[in-house]
Amino acid sequence: MNPLADRVSLISDSITLAVSAKANAMKKAGIDVVGFGAGEPDFDTPTFIKDSAKAELDAGRTKYTPTPCFPELKAAIAQKFNTENNLPYKPEQVTVGAGGKFCLYMAFMATLNPGDEVLIPSPYWVSYPEQVKLAGGIPRIIRGEESNGFKITPAQLQSAITAKTKVLILNSPSNPAGHAYTPEELTALADVVAMHPHLLVFSDEIYEKLVYNGLKFVSFATLHPSLMDRTLTFNCHSKSFAMTGWRVGYVGGPKPIIDAMNKLQSQMTSHITSFTQMPAALALTDPRGKESVEAMRVEFERRGHHMHERLAALPGITCVKPAGAFYCFPNISSYLGKSIGGVNLTDAVSFAAALLAQAHVAVVPGNDSGFDTHIRLSFATSMEQIDKGIDRIKAFLAKS
Ligand SMILES: Cc1ncc(COP(=O)(O)O)c(C=O)c1O
Repeated sequence: MNPLADRVSLISDSITLAVSAKANAMKKAGIDVVGFGAGEPDFDTPTFIKDSAKAELDAGRTKYTPTPCFPELKAAIAQKFNTENNLPYKPEQVTVGAGGKFCLYMAFMATLNPGDEVLIPSPYWVSYPEQVKLAGGIPRIIRGEESNGFKITPAQLQSAITAKTKVLILNSPSNPAGHAYTPEELTALADVVAMHPHLLVFSDEIYEKLVYNGLKFVSFATLHPSLMDRTLTFNCHSKSFAMTGWRVGYVGGPKPIIDAMNKLQSQMTSHITSFTQMPAALALTDPRGKESVEAMRVEFERRGHHMHERLAALPGITCVKPAGAFYCFPNISSYLGKSIGGVNLTDAVSFAAALLAQAHVAVVPGNDSGFDTHIRLSFATSMEQIDKGIDRIKAFLAKS
């Protein structure tokens, strides 16, 4: 008898993980690997947030809390949505879960019936299609073309919506391509959504604070009066406050969906870790929170511009300039079909594997994001590492 449930085979093993496992093994063996794989800030969590967690532990805040959290955290999140995003969510329209990832998973579980379709613009964050499948839904990809900065157009969206479409996912600024929609472009998508009242929108805004080139961030649900009742707005502390390991994610949305997510969570994890809750509230309410995010944003913008300039100057490589998040997503297709160091390059996975083995540079192949012709490089690393890694990539490509 197969001990495993069928649902396990529904989801793919991550090819990305294989490359990062290899990079880690090489580092452990003492090899000087330049890592561009990180999906997290290289900054530490701000001291005032860490101090708050220490105080919570010392005060004995180590027991069960209400599902999904203490009222203070819900209130801080609602206030953040109200004041920073112009989203009038009340505390009862907010829920909290173990990172943005678990919040998205709960939302799919709370809204999808078997066979419901979910529109996912590509390139996409690797977990969206897998979570949709786990929840019984069917992912439908809308391809964002590089020639349009990886953004989907209103016409593409319009033609992808069918009677079976239940949810549209939007992620701006985006992982993995670092692209971000302007308010005008998002409004044009909102106008399409407004014509389809059966459609829910999951707006993944976790990179909202990391925008560059003077881009103005707007929350999707503000863009049309009908959207508040059918948009879930996702956010988390992971990227804004360099708190990836703390697992704090949150969502604002229509009360019936939030209630359903709380019902699910009450039987799953109950709540996030007790002593992270008040620090998470403090991060949102203390002015030092905003200061630390802005300091990080300025530094990421500087690094992102530098990495982009250097990548775009490599022969045969094109690269869209990042407008947000901390990723460049260069196109390596002109090298596919060639061989480097005796290795035939057939797609981004073989390219990334050869680059790691021969040049000791770790990148993320775009295959898991729907693009097997692109690689993702994170600029959440120092300028020195960026230059060293791109010098190595240049020498690697010169061997083709
Ligand atoms: C687009 C996107 N959404 C959600 C998440 C999940 O964030 P968290 O670490 O809070 O679970 C990530 C993490 O990389 C992401 O890139």
